[in-house]
Amino acid sequence: MIDHIRQSLETIAAKDRMRAVRASEMTAGGRIERDGCQLIDFSSNDYLGLALHPLLKQRSCEFIERFGAGAGASRLITGTSQAHEDIERQIAAFKGTEAALVMASGWQANAGVIPALAKAAPRTVIFADELVHNSIHAGCRGAKAEVYFYRHNDLADLQRLLNDTASTFDGRVVITESVFSMDGDGADLAALNAIAAEHDAMLYVDEAHATGVLGERGAGLTADHPGAGVVMGTFSKALGGFGAYVACSQLMRDYLVNMCAGLIFSTAPPPAVLGSMSAALELVPEMDAERAHLAALSEQLREGLLAMGYDTRGSTTQIVPLVVGAEADALALGQHLLDRSIAALPIRPPTVPNGTSRIRFALRSTLSREDVDHVLSAVAEWRDA
Ligand SMILES: Cc1ncc(COP(=O)(O)O)c(C=O)c1O
Repeated sequence: MIDHIRQSLETIAAKDRMRAVRASEMTAGGRIERDGCQLIDFSSNDYLGLALHPLLKQRSCEFIERFGAGAGASRLITGTSQAHEDIERQIAAFKGTEAALVMASGWQANAGVIPALAKAAPRTVIFADELVHNSIHAGCRGAKAEVYFYRHNDLADLQRLLNDTASTFDGRVVITESVFSMDGDGADLAALNAIAAEHDAMLYVDEAHATGVLGERGAGLTADHPGAGVVMGTFSKALGGFGAYVACSQLMRDYLVNMCAGLIFSTAPPPAVLGSMSAALELVPEMDAERAHLAALSEQLREGLLAMGYDTRGSTTQIVPLVVGAEADALALGQHLLDRSIAALPIRPPTVPNGTSRIRFALRSTLSREDVDHVLSAVAEWRDA
């Protein structure tokens, strides 16, 4: 087996796709420190700068002092504390749903909840947008269901697939992200709600990148367009901490507590994580000024890149891709930016489709207009070289 593992790594290296983890530390003002250098951080998903917020740190410490370091067991054994139930009530109020569940991570939520849903009906079919996150793919692979991927945000393609196949199944699920993680564009939730209702399908929405940033009081786009049967999101991005939530009806919550393996067979999220969740849920609804600044920075970057003739896909949010096409170009541009103290990740296949290698800029409210100007001049310099 070791030989196969070595060979796999050699194949990855031969394609120049070797990845490695590198230590960085987030610092104030939208910076990170890496190898002793301060970089302007356009890579992390800490969109509102909450990861370093004093209240999140303080509340995590308080929760550790009061409840200890670990939950001790899974939710169904003895791992559910009053704090879990309080946070779940806070999440439901924030999202405008009847109930909610906290999960260990967004990846685990998608990988666990989708297979659980598929078990509800004797024959289930899933229709997912082709650009959904790896964790949704993992959930679909783990589900006993037939899975179809519709063209990205192409609702006519979804309708066609539903018309052709849906009636031969007992249960139907349509899955989308509300903001797509690599293209930074949004889904048409009003239309998806209508299509799901027309075909008696359940809509499942991943709000990982919308939670905290978009929608009334930062509650995500489903708060403005209710109707999905399951909404999941993370505390690991704009909410500055870790862990995830599922917002849903009480019936769905009861079902997942009984059927979702990722919840039943995994230790409950620990007090420190619940502390930062509780603080973020208090702060986020009041952060309209930060959201407005973030939207303005995103617009400034997008307009600058579009004016230079670059493709930013359909981005309308704080995620702004600069598509260069070839992998080598994405790597070269990434290095060019790094040489100018800008951390912005090159993203290549298999994370994005072939021929769409890009720099993915993730804007943060802790950045300034001058930081964005600096990026735009660095990109212009690279283009003109
Ligand atoms: C759309 C989407 N869903 C889920 C996840 C996973 O969330 P977490 O980082 O909390 O595991 C991510 C993370 O990158 C994501 O982009």
